[in-house]
Amino acid sequence: MANESVSRTLLVAGLLAVVCSALVSSSAILLRPEQARNKDLDRKKNILQAAGIYKEKLAVDEQFSQFEIKVVDLSTGEFRDDIDAATFDQRKAAKSNDQGMAITGEDDIAGIKRRSLYALIYIARGSNGDLEKLILPVHGKGLWSTLYGYLALDSDLTTINGFAFYEHGETPGLGGEVDNPRWKAQWIGKQAFAEDGTAWLEVLKGKTNPDSPDAIHQIDGLAGATITSRGIDSLLRYWLGEHGFKPLLDQLKSTEGETDHG
Ligand SMILES: Cc1cc2nc3c(=O)[nH]c(=O)nc-3n(C[C@H](O)[C@H](O)[C@H](O)COP(=O)(O)O)c2cc1C
Repeated sequence: MANESVSRTLLVAGLLAVVCSALVSSSAILLRPEQARNKDLDRKKNILQAAGIYKEKLAVDEQFSQFEIKVVDLSTGEFRDDIDAATFDQRKAAKSNDQGMAITGEDDIAGIKRRSLYALIYIARGSNGDLEKLILPVHGKGLWSTLYGYLALDSDLTTINGFAFYEHGETPGLGGEVDNPRWKAQWIGKQAFAEDGTAWLEVLKGKTNPDSPDAIHQIDGLAGATITSRGIDSLLRYWLGEHGFKPLLDQLKSTEGETDHG
């Protein structure tokens, strides 16, 4: 009798375990498309927030539809209209042989080892068709993770409109303070380039001195998170430089203002 009740208990426990694991795994599979959709919405929201045009009460997709989305060849800065922006995946491209390249030695200041030959960029235009905001994807190594974010530039292509990471694995309260709205707010209005056109945007160790003439190019470091701060400083130098978006910015400076925005 005692034996029978032990085996019955084990059987019931076993069955329960099988049923529960089936439930958990099937809901994980069923929810996968929803998770992917939420991740995509979050990324779009971050792009809108980086551009400083996100409105909480309006649907994200509706607001996002105002962007012109382009695939750009990073080495020339030219648009590649033959690559479908709707399906292009920059992260997958970075890993592939034909659409990605290795970054070696001293060139790899962002610590990313490989990058896509092409990037997806977002342009917001005014009613007259003039470029008002340009949003650039950037990424680079922090302490624990690669941080992925968007840097938004104003129509002068040097004043920062906003900066936001949509994915990282830095420690909450330390490197994770990249998400702190107060820290993000100080990026707005900073200048990404020096007078001579070279990239100049620094994340300091410690605080900026507002009286310094260099402060317009400087951001406060994150307290207790020097490695994450240094990572952000480096990734910006990479993506604003010759191997990043500099060719695109030079192209846009010469082509924008023409009437045909293609
Ligand atoms: C559990 C733990 C988590 C940490 N997370 C981060 C982090 O996300 N980013 C970072 O730069 N430093 C982090 N640090 C601190 C670094 O190890 C290092 O001490 C710090 O970057 C030095 O910054 P400081 O000179 O501003 O103190 C962490 C330390 C510990 C113990």
